[in-house]
Amino acid sequence: MAGVRLEGVSKRFGQFDAVANVSETIRDGEFVSLLGPSGCGKTTTLRIIAGFEKATAGRVFIDDRLVSCAQTGAYVPPERRNIGMVFQSYAVWPHMNVFANVAYPLKVRRASKRELAAKVERVLDLVHLTGLENRLPNQLSGGQQQRVALARALVAEPALLLLEVAPLFWTRDRARISG
Ligand SMILES: Nc1ncnc2c1ncn2[C@@H]1O[C@H](COP(=O)(O)OP(=O)(O)O)[C@@H](O)[C@H]1O
Ligand SMILES: [Mg+2]
Repeated sequence: MAGVRLEGVSKRFGQFDAVANVSETIRDGEFVSLLGPSGCGKTTTLRIIAGFEKATAGRVFIDDRLVSCAQTGAYVPPERRNIGMVFQSYAVWPHMNVFANVAYPLKVRRASKRELAAKVERVLDLVHLTGLENRLPNQLSGGQQQRVALARALVAEPALLLLEVAPLFWTRDRARISG
């Protein structure tokens, strides 16, 4: 896995600071969780690292490669950052079956049919979805849909994996969901 470095990263929506001056270094091989109350900027930070959102200040490096610099406008789009991302809502495509959802990142990269089939088969085996290739997402359980999203994030062997999952906190008398 690649390292990530954020240098003074901010994101302002109008007058509102969604992310304010975040600096953080995550080393290659580390597994890091962002924890904080709903609305504190976790999703926006992930989206900036992935490239779906442009920071309004600061710089982002992935493996020492500058992928975003607010000052100069330098910006590498998501598909050229070699990352995989699982969205909180999974964001699997409802009109595409399991195979097509998982194969998509390889299609974009113009992988050969043979390589594509082999890699999809391997990653479906990894997430225990072998045999469900022809199902549509609405024919799957929530957990199976989540594993389709995970397989899609892993299939192109990304250098960096971003997982947006809602942690579940149990307090004494009620369950609270944050994220
Ligand atoms: N596109 C947007 N326009 C305006 N405000 C936004 C936008 N996206 C997020 N926000 C605000 O930015 C803050 C951080 O949002 P977010 O990163 O989604 O929080 P978290 O994932 O930690 O719950 C929230 O207050 C949210 O309402
Ligand atoms: Mg969030």
